[in-house]
Amino acid sequence: MQIIIQKDRETAVALAAALLADQLRLKPNSVLGLATGRTMEGLYARLAEMHRSAGLDFSLAVTFNLDEYYGLPPTHPNSYRYYMNQHLFNRVNIDLRNTHLPRGTTTDPQKEARRYELLIKDAGGIDLQVLSIGESGHIGFNEPLSAMFSRTRLKALTAKTVEQNSPLFEEPEAMPRFAFTMGVGTILEAARCLMLVTGPEKAAIIAKATEGPVTSMISASALQLHPDCTVITDADAGANLEQQEYYHWIYEHDPQWEPYRALFPR
Ligand code: GLP
Repeated sequence: MQIIIQKDRETAVALAAALLADQLRLKPNSVLGLATGRTMEGLYARLAEMHRSAGLDFSLAVTFNLDEYYGLPPTHPNSYRYYMNQHLFNRVNIDLRNTHLPRGTTTDPQKEARRYELLIKDAGGIDLQVLSIGESGHIGFNEPLSAMFSRTRLKALTAKTVEQNSPLFEEPEAMPRFAFTMGVGTILEAARCLMLVTGPEKAAIIAKATEGPVTSMISASALQLHPDCTVITDADAGANLEQQEYYHWIYEHDPQWEPYRALFPR
């Protein structure tokens, strides 16, 4: 795992967008794993801007989202399909047929979960998985005690997640209590993981997830097992990290970050 602490939210988002854009330039038919939530809004706005101003090309990209609320149709403003269309897909030149999310209104959740896993497999697996972290420590909706080898399935949401996400609903009490999510095992199979974490409310959980023990109580800690995972934080989210100086040193000296250092000094 590599951790890069940027000075502010804007620079953290810009660096994450640059890494994702470079993935697309290197392999235009990349299979991207995508996330939702407030953190991702900035990233998608930036990617849409790169498409508009620099022609960043999504025409051959294939995407799989981490999760979707159970019971919400794609037309519901709080469904993640709606979110993705609004924030990214309708703003770039992606072929909507190449964009995938679990179908929240299915009558057979187990079949839908198997279908989703097969789709990912048939696409050749995920090249780059973008992630953020929930205050419960979840990645996707892998709430505490999610098995490290878990696959796409329905998960019951914790009270913490309901508290974090229900204010986004017009009627907060209407937030579904179950959601489809890729499993921790599904996520760990992505060739590369990129986690973006911003804001002081994430400082405690990201420190536990990255510098604490690997535990199914904090699903994001499973990323410590991934061979190619980059975590980008802003100064607020990175504030509780114990090894900040070490992470800064790596960003300043590791040749792989050389092309980014000038554009995004920490
Ligand atoms: C939702 C998503 C998670 C995401 C989280 C972060 O719960 N299921 O994948 O990590 O939101 O939310 P925010 O960026 O709003 O803090």
